[in-house]
Amino acid sequence: MFKKINSILLALALVFAAGTSSSFAACDPGERVVKLSHVTGGTTHPKVVAANNFAEQVNKQLNGKLCVEVYPNSTLFGDSKELEALLLGDVQLLAPSLSKFGSYTKKYGVFDLPFIFKDMDSAMAFTSSKSGKDLLNTMEDVGLVGLGYWMSGMKYFSANKPLILPTDAKGLKFRVQTSDVAKAMIAAMDASPQPMAFDEVYGALQTGVVDGQENTWSNIYTKKFFEVQDSTTQTSHQLLAYLFMTSKEFLDSLDADTRSKFIKIADDVTIVANKSVKDQEEANRQNILKAGGKINELNAKQRKQWVDAMKPVWKKFEAEIGADLIAAAASF
Ligand code: LMR
Repeated sequence: MFKKINSILLALALVFAAGTSSSFAACDPGERVVKLSHVTGGTTHPKVVAANNFAEQVNKQLNGKLCVEVYPNSTLFGDSKELEALLLGDVQLLAPSLSKFGSYTKKYGVFDLPFIFKDMDSAMAFTSSKSGKDLLNTMEDVGLVGLGYWMSGMKYFSANKPLILPTDAKGLKFRVQTSDVAKAMIAAMDASPQPMAFDEVYGALQTGVVDGQENTWSNIYTKKFFEVQDSTTQTSHQLLAYLFMTSKEFLDSLDADTRSKFIKIADDVTIVANKSVKDQEEANRQNILKAGGKINELNAKQRKQWVDAMKPVWKKFEAEIGADLIAAAASF
């Protein structure tokens, strides 16, 4: 009976939340509620799909024990608060971009180095290697535990004017994530970086607080950035990937059997998510074009100018990231 009432309430909640694509389970009494918070939205975004799949699998396979509730679109916590909230136990699962961990580790700067990965396959080969896997738990000393890497896509620059060469970006203001590498990369284009939370980007582009931004097709489509930009240029200059993560406190609080099942589900969902991400990105690229967004492609000569402009950034971060780690990532 209780479950039925919960389901009715849930259905009503979903009607009111139409368009936010949250995945809310009707938790049974006695089940432990586990909150998964993230900042992306829409229905076709790789993180939305992976997070909802994780919830579905836990709610099926650990029915009666754990009940995952997914909060998308920064509705529970946005960029600036989510890691703190995880450490405080106010949320149990997150999937932040690897560019957002600067206060906890400098090592993840390796993922932000411009043009270090030629495509997502190279990035996935690195994350599956020993050096990549070791990085998953580089923040264990502060109580943060990586469960898996979820790929999101390569990133592309958009602006309120066409960007064909890096010199076109001169003097423009670009929103970046809170990453020192991203800031240095924008400075290398003679432009100004403006770190900003993800949920503020659309408004900032619309009102001209910033002139441009850099993101994946899935974010540019689901957050409608293309509507308030002249065009997006297919630079593929950086990777966007997430750390699907929890806290040590939460993991330790699970009994051994539940913990190993929970980790196995995270592994399985990660494999499925990374298999479909390239198709999801391509579908969202097409969605942008269908919706009237403009995409500029680069020829080899133009692309080389972007690579040359940004390559000096690597040297700046070699000491804090580690030359060996950079070499390992660049070898794939
Ligand atoms: C951004 O802030 O641009 C992205 O990290 C958002 C996301 O989670 O994809």
